[in-house]
Amino acid sequence: MIVLFGATGDLAGRELLPGLFRLAKAGLLPTRYRIVGSARSTLTDDEFRERARRAVVEFGKVEPTDEEWRAFADSLSYGAATPAQPQPLLDAVDAAEKALGGHPRRLYHLAVPPIAFAPTIGMLAETDLAKNARIIVEKPFGTDLASARALNDTIHATFDESQVFRIDHFLGKESVDNILALRFANGLFEPIWNRDHISYVQIDVPETLGIEGRAAFFEQTGTFRDMIVTHLFQVLGFVAMEPPTSLTAKHLRDETTKVFEAMPLLDPGRVVRGQFRGYRDEPGVDPQSQTETFLAARVEVDNWRWSGVPFYLRSGKALRQKRQVVTLGFKEPPLRMFPLDRDTRDATPSNKLVIEFDDPGWIAARFQAKEPGAALRLGEATMTFRYADSFCTQYALAGYERLILEALLGDQSLFTRADGIERLWEVSAPLLDSPPPVEAYAPGSWGPDSIDRLIAPHHWYLPDSP
Ligand code: BG6
Repeated sequence: MIVLFGATGDLAGRELLPGLFRLAKAGLLPTRYRIVGSARSTLTDDEFRERARRAVVEFGKVEPTDEEWRAFADSLSYGAATPAQPQPLLDAVDAAEKALGGHPRRLYHLAVPPIAFAPTIGMLAETDLAKNARIIVEKPFGTDLASARALNDTIHATFDESQVFRIDHFLGKESVDNILALRFANGLFEPIWNRDHISYVQIDVPETLGIEGRAAFFEQTGTFRDMIVTHLFQVLGFVAMEPPTSLTAKHLRDETTKVFEAMPLLDPGRVVRGQFRGYRDEPGVDPQSQTETFLAARVEVDNWRWSGVPFYLRSGKALRQKRQVVTLGFKEPPLRMFPLDRDTRDATPSNKLVIEFDDPGWIAARFQAKEPGAALRLGEATMTFRYADSFCTQYALAGYERLILEALLGDQSLFTRADGIERLWEVSAPLLDSPPPVEAYAPGSWGPDSIDRLIAPHHWYLPDSP
């Protein structure tokens, strides 16, 4: 039985209900299951089913047939709850469990604002709902080290770490998990995946959307907490980790945590915070707001593999393109025997491995090749992998779908661990304590001009889909 807290919210509508429907349609949910929606507002079961149907039609990838919808809708019910008045939820859970029979396992998904995490967990503890349960906790997990520690303490007072699934949906993306396959299932890439061959790494997640009416959330959160300390650092963990002993949750998370431990504290002098022009005019935004809608940073991983290799991270709202890209820039060969191509933008055109991890994702190796003809001139060439060229992509799962499934199966490999999260907040402390002032940027640009100084002598590199 799944209880979806925040069932009337944005995340539930955009991702979770369509994702659960898709899992049900694909036959990936248990044969007998129930989904209980919960939020503060009072709704009947039918009203909740109708909201869920509208969400699935609007945000799901395929429109359900009447028959598919009926089968899914039969499993849905609703029970309002506040910490002071949980009774409607208790009744709904009781009815759902009676319908299932026996002692079904419980999975709680806390798709609620961070401020509601602790009261919701308190309610679960007080009402006995915590028994036989797993819990998915949304991001951002805390707002700094002290609050993340306090939240971990609150959770651990009721749940053992083995029952806790801190979700970061980037870790469920096909192309992010494929980084593990690319690195550790091939003899081709891993031998060059280190400081001897790589001169820099860029992790770039520009978005075209603005804040889309989420002023209350965004003013409190900002891009660093919404995107960097969460999604981009987790992707960095996969790019930078040592080969794990195995892909089990313990070994995989030991390795990402070791990466986070090797990151020196962030240097605010190597961070650019930006705010798009017009942000302060959005309803609900403070006209003097210093919240960043853009952040670029140079970070390091000071270990044997990566010492001296900068990792450039960038993410922001209202930028020119929506992309999710990891680029590895390789060192040049020791001897330059070919003339430099004056037309190339990059003064030192180096080999690059580009991993676009926004669904459906692709990987491209950029390299120099001889242009056909009498002269020995070089041109940039590309070898590309696209999922659809090699695989049937019908069964590809979106990040949330994959992770909800893993939580149902009890596999924590792709979820973050308490110590890893706390270390990331520790690394972030100097920036949170002394953030540089926000610099304005034009909507539709790539962010404030000073990001070019941050990355020099390299360049922000974002090739179009090959
Ligand atoms: C969410 C952030 O976690 O991730 C959003 O809160 C962001 O601000 C989103 O837009 C990006 O993820 P995706 O996978 O939907 O592009």
